[in-house]
Amino acid sequence: MYSFYVHLLFSVCIFVYLYNDCEARTQWEATPISIDGHTTNPSAMDSNLRLERISRGEYGFSGTFFWGIDMDDSVMVEMRILNSYTGKEADYKLTPFSIQPQKFTDYINTFYKDLLIPNLGNCTDMPKYESGYVPPWPKTTFNFNHCTVSGEGLPEVLAEGFYRAEAIITALPTVSVNVSAVLRIKTKMF
Ligand SMILES: *[C@@H]1O[C@H](CO)[C@@H](O)[C@H](O)[C@H]1NC(C)=O
Ligand SMILES: *[C@@H]1O[C@H](CO)[C@@H](O)[C@H](O)[C@H]1NC(C)=O
Repeated sequence: MYSFYVHLLFSVCIFVYLYNDCEARTQWEATPISIDGHTTNPSAMDSNLRLERISRGEYGFSGTFFWGIDMDDSVMVEMRILNSYTGKEADYKLTPFSIQPQKFTDYINTFYKDLLIPNLGNCTDMPKYESGYVPPWPKTTFNFNHCTVSGEGLPEVLAEGFYRAEAIITALPTVSVNVSAVLRIKTKMF
């Protein structure tokens, strides 16, 4: 009998874990503070994202990202994740969550598929590759509507403060883009 209950409890937990929208797992919540994009060549790649109010006290990122170049091995991406307890520029320090420059096509099958898309979810029409990248990567304008970070695949516990994610996409000498988003992380009040 005991083992039956343990088994049942375990199954219920797995069920809840899979079907809950995952927010329950993290002990923090993220509030978008700002977003900002720079490109060296708007006709190759351009970012037009802004912070938008969803409801009282609730904000998300909206806008577009134009991708106008062919995806090949020369396209690189780097993610710099910095944090600062105070939010002051001088206090920002690089965190170990950062990702060294790598080929964008490698990134699609790892960070992009496992973290970026699950976190953004349905707020964007960026391609979803559940069983791995299938070329070609579309040359188009991607849309974002009230995006926030769900916490999926991210650490359960994060130090409070401000986090800045800088995504640097380069296809040199054609273009270099830096999209930088600031989030404020707070421990949830239960
Ligand atoms: C995204 O949309 C699909 C189809 O409408 C839906 O089944 C799924 O639950 C949604 N996911 C999230 C995280 O909202
Ligand atoms: C990216 O842009 C942000 C915001 O403008 C800036 O603080 C940061 O230094 C830039 N990063 C790089 C690597 O250029």
